[in-house]
Amino acid sequence: MKIGIVGAGAMGSGIAQVAAQNGHQVVIVDNHRAALEKSKAGHQKILARLVEKGKLTEGEDQTILQRLKYETEMGNLQGCGMVIEAIVERLDTKQTLFKQLEDLCGDDAILASNTSSLSIASIASACQKPERVLGIHFFNPAPLMPLVEIIPAITSDSEIVNQAKALIDAWGKVTVLAKDTPGFIVNRVARPFYGEAVRIYEEGMADIATIDWALTELGGFRMGPFTLMDFIGHDVNYAVTESVFTAFFYDPRYKPNFSQKRLVEAGLLGRKTGRGFYDYREGASKPQPHKDEALGQAILERILVMLINEAADALHLGIASAKDIDLAMTKGVNYPKGLLAWADELGLDFVLNRLDALYNDYREDRYRASVLLRRMVAANKKFF
Ligand code: NAI
Repeated sequence: MKIGIVGAGAMGSGIAQVAAQNGHQVVIVDNHRAALEKSKAGHQKILARLVEKGKLTEGEDQTILQRLKYETEMGNLQGCGMVIEAIVERLDTKQTLFKQLEDLCGDDAILASNTSSLSIASIASACQKPERVLGIHFFNPAPLMPLVEIIPAITSDSEIVNQAKALIDAWGKVTVLAKDTPGFIVNRVARPFYGEAVRIYEEGMADIATIDWALTELGGFRMGPFTLMDFIGHDVNYAVTESVFTAFFYDPRYKPNFSQKRLVEAGLLGRKTGRGFYDYREGASKPQPHKDEALGQAILERILVMLINEAADALHLGIASAKDIDLAMTKGVNYPKGLLAWADELGLDFVLNRLDALYNDYREDRYRASVLLRRMVAANKKFF
């Protein structure tokens, strides 16, 4: 099957590489020639490196490169069995594109969006045949991150969703099914990793280095929240937080914070600009954590129970199955354990007690425990 990719940025290029490595002829279309050239140069470099590392044999890189075509004209997408869109995150632009795709591609072509924050239903609504439109959400960098969220819209045909899922599975990815709700699984459940960490910092409970230390050294997370936000870029991370908050009708659980907003306003976007929560400029000293175990445990527990609460509530609301929620967090954002399995290990009564203590202390809706947790504790149940 010929695969079409629209948008040759970070995501489109990565997805195109995955498809080509899995034997497909791939057409990448972008309306900026410079983006196509950058994408092509990137593919050449990455594939050559894979040969050096022995992950591809000599010549295999050339075979893969020959499968990739870089085009500015949409007409080149004719004959594609599936097109994945990874253009700018704007609804009107995506809707215009999907209308065009529908005219160009055969009736049975699958049309997918890699959107992180728009509803699939709203994109599909631009089409005459919305039943063949779904969300296929990769993680950055697409060739390295195993997770792909498959998101049927309310209008999607389940047979088409199954076909798309089977294809992405065959590419060696770990697919999970998610409901078409803001942030899908990962970008919803992960919010407290950032938001609660900043809250702890803003309240003066600990400094950023200590919070990062607690999560990495005591919690086993690969990166602490402040290091991770600096890495992702505050423009991107803040935009996701704000869009999830707005899309959830301003649920206080997802409220953005001023510390990060000010960083964005000041242009201190993290690693890419040399400064964010940390200072990466030459000669800058790195703040050292206060390795106080009791404080570290309190920080870790607070963030962890908030994450578990999100995971439990996502399960309660049918966003995904327990298995898929845990897979999503381990395979999409490298969490050391699935959150629901972690909850079982900690004891659901412990998690609920910690959440209730936070709720009683703050009297804020942000700390309300999911009713599912409460019911499970009452019934003495576990997630797995
Ligand atoms: P990017 O800005 O790196 O690339 C977007 C590309 O689309 C650019 O090369 C641009 O020239 C092209 N483009 C814009 N409008 C177009 C049009 N009408 N026709 C053809 N090409 C057009 O963006 P990135 O980061 O690759 O994101 C793309 C999509 O993937 C967005 O929907 C984003 O929300 C989503 N996404 C991004 C992730 C990330 O970590 N960057 C992760 C998962 C999803």
